Amino acid sequence: MHAKEFWTEYQPGFRSTAATPGTEEFFAQVDAYRYESEPHIEGFARFGSWAGRNVLEAGCGIGTDGVRFARAGARYTGIDFSPTALELGRRRFELEELEGSFVEGDLTSLPFGDASFDLAYSFGVLHHLEGTERAVDELHRVLVPGGTALVMLYHRDSLNYRFTIMLLRRALVALLWIPAMPALIAKATGERLEVLNAHRELLLRHRRAYLSRDMFLSHNTDGPGNPLSKVFSRDEMGALFSSFSTVRTSVHFLNLRTYPGGRRLASTRLARRLEPRLGWHLCVEATK
Ligand SMILES: C[S@@+](CC[C@H](N)C(=O)[O-])C[C@H]1O[C@@H](n2cnc3c(N)ncnc32)[C@H](O)[C@@H]1O
Repeated sequence: MHAKEFWTEYQPGFRSTAATPGTEEFFAQVDAYRYESEPHIEGFARFGSWAGRNVLEAGCGIGTDGVRFARAGARYTGIDFSPTALELGRRRFELEELEGSFVEGDLTSLPFGDASFDLAYSFGVLHHLEGTERAVDELHRVLVPGGTALVMLYHRDSLNYRFTIMLLRRALVALLWIPAMPALIAKATGERLEVLNAHRELLLRHRRAYLSRDMFLSHNTDGPGNPLSKVFSRDEMGALFSSFSTVRTSVHFLNLRTYPGGRRLASTRLARRLEPRLGWHLCVEATK
């Protein structure tokens, strides 16, 4: 499946609620899930700090973070190539009677002039592009001098990548070869049966190749079928943003969703101590 097709059929919010997309209940449940399980987003984005400023969100999805910028008074523009995402984003702004614009376009070639925005924000997006470097260059180009980029990418040196995905999930997915396993693993982990069956299908189709590092990573971050996910170390993130004058990275969110009781585990003292080193979200704040 191509990237645009995947993100048109699937958006992150769809997994967090069974409510009908576009309803108030849907958006409320997407919000509750997102900010309860990923509370660091608010501190990173500092939604309240951009009132009256031009904010671009690259890969805005269904506008979940977008409404927070707009509610706080930012002049908000979201860009995405998924028509489903843009439609839901516009619907959400309408429901809340917020001003903002949603533009269809590709992040490797932004349809905006140089020095158009004070903030370029992108959360969980650029690691899904073949042209991550090109997209970062574009964010740099459209920022005013002194403007800020806030970008989150998946972290290579994380518990989630090194252990949960590459060891634990790979072992569990290999077991899916056995027909009875999807139901058993669904029961033990709480994962949805349809997701486990989709992994089983991929395993039967690609056999050993499905467990290869890059293919497995792509299908095991944002759901089976996702064509591309990449991970970055702090050094790789620094190199990516080397055209900016200052670059500061921080690490958040252990991501223990795969584990039974994961949310409770995440609030233990040990988890909180590990998070700044082994978290899954590698966040950069860079100044042009
Ligand atoms: C994982 S979602 C994140 C959405 C949103 N930032 C969030 O945190 O909920 C990735 C988003 O990036 C968009 N996207 C991926 N590649 C893109 C590209 N090359 N150009 C424009 N949008 C893209 C997808 O359509 C999708 O909405």
